[in-house]
Amino acid sequence: MKRKEFLQRSATFVAGTVIMGSGSSNIFAANNSLRSGTSIESITLNNGVKMPILGFGTLYLRDELGVRCVADAISLGYRLIDTATVYGNEESVGGGIKLSGINREELFVTSKVWVDDYGYEQAKKAFQISLDKMGLDYLDLYLIHRPRGDIKGTWLAMEDLYKEGKIKAIGVSNFEAGHLEELLSYATIEPAVNQIETHAFFQQEKARESLKKYGIQMEAWSPFAQGRNELFTNEILAAIGKKHDKSNAQVSLRWHYQRGIVAIPRSSQKAHMKENLNIFDFELDEADMNTISALDLNITQFPEWE
Ligand SMILES: NC(=O)c1ccc[n+]([C@@H]2O[C@H](COP(=O)([O-])OP(=O)(O)OC[C@H]3O[C@@H](n4cnc5c(N)ncnc54)[C@H](OP(=O)(O)O)[C@@H]3O)[C@@H](O)[C@H]2O)c1
Repeated sequence: MKRKEFLQRSATFVAGTVIMGSGSSNIFAANNSLRSGTSIESITLNNGVKMPILGFGTLYLRDELGVRCVADAISLGYRLIDTATVYGNEESVGGGIKLSGINREELFVTSKVWVDDYGYEQAKKAFQISLDKMGLDYLDLYLIHRPRGDIKGTWLAMEDLYKEGKIKAIGVSNFEAGHLEELLSYATIEPAVNQIETHAFFQQEKARESLKKYGIQMEAWSPFAQGRNELFTNEILAAIGKKHDKSNAQVSLRWHYQRGIVAIPRSSQKAHMKENLNIFDFELDEADMNTISALDLNITQFPEWE
């Protein structure tokens, strides 16, 4: 299939409607109310591909837990699923997708190449292994996980996979301005996304401005800082939440959304997954946004990953 045709076909991603294969027996069959999930808005990446503004993170969700969580998330309306080779759960993500019975073209699946697989040949092999583990024949987004080692060889492999139509968009993760500038000096395809740590305590305003300038979509990992620094009980977020009848988690996700940032919260609990989707019926006003701005500590909450 030609790349253009491929993109046109896949851009018709109907967020929120679970399409069932006829006669399929799966987790949706028992409960009609799960057939249609919450509709999630999409943003358009710099290559025209649509990406849901809110997705589901899968770090630490492995084995049967991973299968169940991914299937639950899809049943509730999540369409963007974020994984990575280093999470050791690509089989579980694939299992959850299969169990959900959803039409592949409705999903937006992201994975990331890990540092051990950097370099042209190795990255190509790693990509195929990821696809095979997930039981998929293309990825929506493939990212360079961390800016170390042979980034150039890895990027060129990703460009070739993109040109072959095996990936709809390519991007990076944890890249700072200097890393991006270097990559842009040889890239023939600009990164579509940079996935970086972003939450109320590390707001990355400078990165947000520079990514906007480059036309690269910012995506927030650990949008709740994994609850570190007491995010879920923070009194300032709670006071804003009280005003809108929302939780700290919902205020956080709404703040990401209003800043135009894709967020990928993780949860192992269906009630939390549902709560995290329920952010599109209220608006943080200017005072709320300014109050949240003041929470910025401007420092990573994950120094152990540096
Ligand atoms: N590119 C990178 O280098 C990188 C690094 C880290 C993460 N990521 C990606 O970003 C995703 C999200 O980040 P993360 O997994 O580190 O953490 P996170 O989404 O910031 O936080 C996850 C934690 O929040 C809890 N939680 C979720 N919803 C909640 C709610 N409504 N109320 C209270 N607690 C709630 C979850 O507990 P329950 O399970 O009990 O709900 C879990 O302990 C990852 O899963 C991964 O896909 C990427």
